[in-house]
Amino acid sequence: GKPVPMEAGRAQPPRALPSTLDQCRRCELWRHATQAVPGCGPQGARIMLVGEQPGDQEDLAGQPFIGPAGQVLDDALRRAELARETVYLTNAVKHFKWVARGKRRMHKTPGQREVEACAAWLEEEIARVKPRVIVALGATALRAVLRRAAALQDHLDAPVLRGDALVMATYHPSYALRVQGVRTPAQVAAHIAETLARARQLA
Ligand code: URA
Repeated sequence: GKPVPMEAGRAQPPRALPSTLDQCRRCELWRHATQAVPGCGPQGARIMLVGEQPGDQEDLAGQPFIGPAGQVLDDALRRAELARETVYLTNAVKHFKWVARGKRRMHKTPGQREVEACAAWLEEEIARVKPRVIVALGATALRAVLRRAAALQDHLDAPVLRGDALVMATYHPSYALRVQGVRTPAQVAAHIAETLARARQLA
């Protein structure tokens, strides 16, 4: 019979990523967010920092870590003598998840489904940037990077390999803004700074 052109009728690969992050409808978070917040930083960055999700200010500005958590992170970067422009900054989830409390939009922790839906974007960033060290900031980031259940406590001072990259874990910067009791804000901030300093040495 007549030869059929190779591509004729071939379906799109399943679960193809939309062409832009802002068009992503893989979960429902886009509905209540201002915009998607992509990662930023040099393509060849040796260090990638992964947060949880954009906060209120990040959602409005379209840039990661510019609000209160970003201030804590900037301070830790300074202490680690790591220039912010040299690292790639991103989040496990790219849309802001929130609940209204009065006039304020309160952060809501993303669910496993949302982290899973957004994992393709994080994978794309890791494949493109090819960092030597990935620093997971908090439990959500750690699970997103390792793609499995993992307890932050078990990984705090114990880097693990993920392909060619070394994965290090520390607290989320916003934890330093609210922690009380078990440890002090200063201890949390110090752990973040020490982890970044170690990442700089290892990258
Ligand atoms: N918290 C995060 O995890 N990421 C941001 O970009 C801002 C706050």
